[in-house]
Amino acid sequence: MDGVNEKLAKSLTAESTDLIPFLPYLLQDLWELGSSPRDMLDLIIKHVPVTKETRILDLACGKGAVSVVLARELGCRVKGIDILPEFIEFAIGKAKEWGVEGLCEFTIGDINQSVRKERDYDIVILGAVGDVLGDPEETITLLKKTGKTGGYILIDDGYGQDETNSKYHTREQWLEIFEKTGVRLMEEKAISDGDLADLNDEQQRYIVQRANELKERLPEKATLFEGYIQSQQAEWDELENEIMGVTLLLQSSH
Ligand SMILES: C[S@@+](CC[C@H](N)C(=O)[O-])C[C@H]1O[C@@H](n2cnc3c(N)ncnc32)[C@H](O)[C@@H]1O
Repeated sequence: MDGVNEKLAKSLTAESTDLIPFLPYLLQDLWELGSSPRDMLDLIIKHVPVTKETRILDLACGKGAVSVVLARELGCRVKGIDILPEFIEFAIGKAKEWGVEGLCEFTIGDINQSVRKERDYDIVILGAVGDVLGDPEETITLLKKTGKTGGYILIDDGYGQDETNSKYHTREQWLEIFEKTGVRLMEEKAISDGDLADLNDEQQRYIVQRANELKERLPEKATLFEGYIQSQQAEWDELENEIMGVTLLLQSSH
């Protein structure tokens, strides 16, 4: 499909697809790549009647931080799909480490295809994946089809402050989209400023260190790695100042 690599790069804040082969190296020290497993878990516990039969689909699961925590804490089955083989390998290792390899299935795939094949889930998750599946309306429409009637959708995204930021819809725009796509907003959990600052500092330290190592090892590509540090910094600033990171729990109403 057109643009898969461009969107993949963008989903991990890389400006150029030339960075794709280096992303596993740059992100090797991190497990969580965007969403807060704890916030997702809290929302599920509060609103969703979970049993051992509950099936969860984690689309673009990254290194499996959300999937593994949910399988461990809820005891239900989770399928995670991501396009980067190194991330899937890492997720499989983590599932073993946490003793939930029997509950987790991790596979390599393009979620543009998986979302059209996977069906009958109780909960579908799209955490910090941006516009890989399209704009919010297209995304919710596709996610809804993977779930049962009355199934749940968890999305980690951001509210823009006003309509000048074309990358992020405002809260009002998201609410209109929920209405149009037939989903009910059960709860929205904003990421707290303290959590965000701590996470950003930690992630930033690791990423800058790995980018500097690559700059030394491959000086001819120094601009590429410097660009990655810059775009990460810009995204952290944006999250701290311009947009509100939010985890949304939606329920499909028909
Ligand atoms: C910011 S990370 C979030 C990972 C995970 N959901 C989390 O919150 O920890 C974005 C993820 O989207 C994945 N991705 C981007 N495009 C994809 C596609 N077309 N199919 C599958 N995964 C994709 C990337 O490989 C990356 O792991």
